[in-house]
Order: sequence, then structure tokens, then C-alpha cells
Amino acid sequence: MIYLDNGATTFPKPKGMIEAMERCMSEYCGNPGRSGHDLSRKTGEEVYRARNTLARFFKIERPDRIVFTSSTTEALNLAIKGVLGAGDHVVTTAMEHNSVLRPVRALADKGVEYTIVPCRGDGSLDIALVEEAIRENTRLVICTQASNVTGTILPIEALSRLCRQRGILFLVDGAQGAGHLPMEASGMDLLAVPGHKGLMGPLGTGFLYVRDGVDIKHVMEGGTGTASREILQPKELPEGYEVGTLNAPGIIGLGYSAAFVEKIGVREIRRHQQQLTGILDSGLRDMKNVTVYGPSDCRKKVGIVAFNIKGYNCEEVASLLNDEFGIAVRSGYHCAGLAHKTIGTWDTGAVRMSMGIYNNVRHMKTAVDAVYRIAQRAR
Ligand code: ALA
Repeated sequence: MIYLDNGATTFPKPKGMIEAMERCMSEYCGNPGRSGHDLSRKTGEEVYRARNTLARFFKIERPDRIVFTSSTTEALNLAIKGVLGAGDHVVTTAMEHNSVLRPVRALADKGVEYTIVPCRGDGSLDIALVEEAIRENTRLVICTQASNVTGTILPIEALSRLCRQRGILFLVDGAQGAGHLPMEASGMDLLAVPGHKGLMGPLGTGFLYVRDGVDIKHVMEGGTGTASREILQPKELPEGYEVGTLNAPGIIGLGYSAAFVEKIGVREIRRHQQQLTGILDSGLRDMKNVTVYGPSDCRKKVGIVAFNIKGYNCEEVASLLNDEFGIAVRSGYHCAGLAHKTIGTWDTGAVRMSMGIYNNVRHMKTAVDAVYRIAQRAR
């Protein structure tokens, strides 16, 4: 199988990560931060080590500002619902995933106003439109670092500067950027990151970084292993927001895999992905009966290529690629309906190929050839 669905989750995972998780599960997995015995302490130490690795990776000065979550979606919900309240206004973009748009829409029923800024047909954003959308009561701007549909890179640094100038909080969805693009948390107030995509960790992991000085409300209350006689939820980070028993084996695996990615180097990963994306994108863009979406310049996107073949629906293409050619892709709307509206595929959806560190030039050539064969068939 040629795996080209790394935008959904990266595969395969580093072997050492699987071993680290197995070691945890079989040798010492007590409940971290709950008891004083050796197994609980050892698990707590390993979770602490993972937190430090992630802080180093994203240049976060205070590891305690990292709140572990079960996914980017959970991290985004915590950030959005933790910051916004009735009377606030939030600005976001048409290229966002539903994990941003749906919590924002849900808050509209509780008195939060929102503006979704349109993007260009290739998924890019004109920052002037964000500036125009800002109002007196704008409290938060939310933007993805890269679209999960077209891979288009959005202007995070410029938005960060704009928000700083205007005294507005800035939340970045790092779902498709973390581990793929250089990223430093320093310009962001809030950053949501998946463990299982560019960081190569296990599914069911992720985190929210909250800049020192940014106050967020709880969205969940419960056991923290601290202040147990208090009925009020502790405000301290991270424990006040990491409610219930942590996914310690997953977090420990994530710590290992983040160190693995760090060792390869994000710049090297970026170089590799740009090379592969260039081969795939130009191979498909030049093909008769094939439409490719998003920027053609691979410097403007991460390792994602979205396309359709004339005469086929996207689900059919994905099935043919899987069944006849052994190529794994994702088709449909990618949990990002507005992004599809923006690029003109509201009625059709699209096929998405997304690259990871284990893909190579041969995979790209095989994928181009497979699409060519499908596109040639008489319909
Ligand atoms: N959000 C993930 C994707 O784009 C699951 O496939």
C-alpha cells in the first residue's frame, strides 16, 4: 500500500515510539500525579519529559503552559470556549476546519458574534479583509496555519503582528502545520496541535499551548490530582485543565515521536515534502481531464494535492486508487465544507493526496500514473 493520507494521520509511525509506548504499558504505567508509589512517579516523570520535549520543539518557554488534550479539536474547543463570552466578536477564515467553525457557530447561540472572512479560490487569505473585519469588541482571531483541503499556507506571522498591534488574542490551528512547517509559539497566544499528524505520535493525543498571561475558562471540571478537598476547579495550568486520568502511554509516545521529528529537522521535512509535492502537483496539473485545486507553487502549500477527474465522482476515484492501485487517499469534504465552497468544489468534493516523511519519488510517480490511467478510461 502506498499511503497518501498523512493529512488524516501519519503512517507508519516510528518504531521507537511504539516500543516506548509498549514499555510504558508493560513496565510501569501507574496513574501520573495521583499516587506517590514508584509506578505513578515514573509515569509522571515520563509525561513531564514529553511536555519538555514539546516545549523545546515549539520554543515554548514554560512547559506548564502546555495542556494535553485528546485531539486538536479538543484543544480548539478549549481555546475558543475558554476565551470567548457573550458580547465578544471573533474573526476566522473560510479555509478553517469544522473543528474551528462549529465551536464558533455553537457560541453564536450564547451571544458571541462572528465573522468568517472569505479566501481566494486557491485558499489564500488577503489579510486586509481580516483587518476590515475587526471591530471594537473583537477578542479573538483564529486561523489555520495550512488548509487541510488544499495545503495552502496562511499568513500566520502577519496575522500575529496585526493581532498584537490591535490587542486581540490570536489562536492558530496547527493541525496541518505542526511538524511540517517551521513553527514557533512565541507569536501566538494560543496554539492547538495534533500529536498524530506531523509530530508522528499516536492517535488520541494533542495539546493546547496557552501563552503566559492569557486567562482561559474551564470547559470541563473534575479530578486533577491536586487540591482534592476543594470543590472549585483549580485554575493552575496544566493540571486544572487536564481533567481526569491522562493518556500517559499516548503522551509518552508523542514525546518520543516529537524528538524523532526534531532530530530529522522540520526544515529537512519541508524540503522533502516540497520536492514530492512538486512532482505530484505538476504531474496532475498537466493532465487532461484532471483539475487540481490550490496553489501550483509548492512554496505556498504543505504536502497536500487536491484534485478531481472529469466524469468521476471523488469517492469513486478514491475506491479505484485503493482497490486497483493500492494507494490510500481521502476523498469527500474533509470536514471543511466552507473550504470546498471557496475552491469551487461545494457540489463535488475532491480527492486529496497528502504526503509524509516515509513517501518517496517512486510513490509520486506511481500516483501520477494511476490517476492518468483512470483519467484515460472512456466514460
Ligand atoms: N482533519 C483530518 C483530515 O483533514 C482528519 O483528514
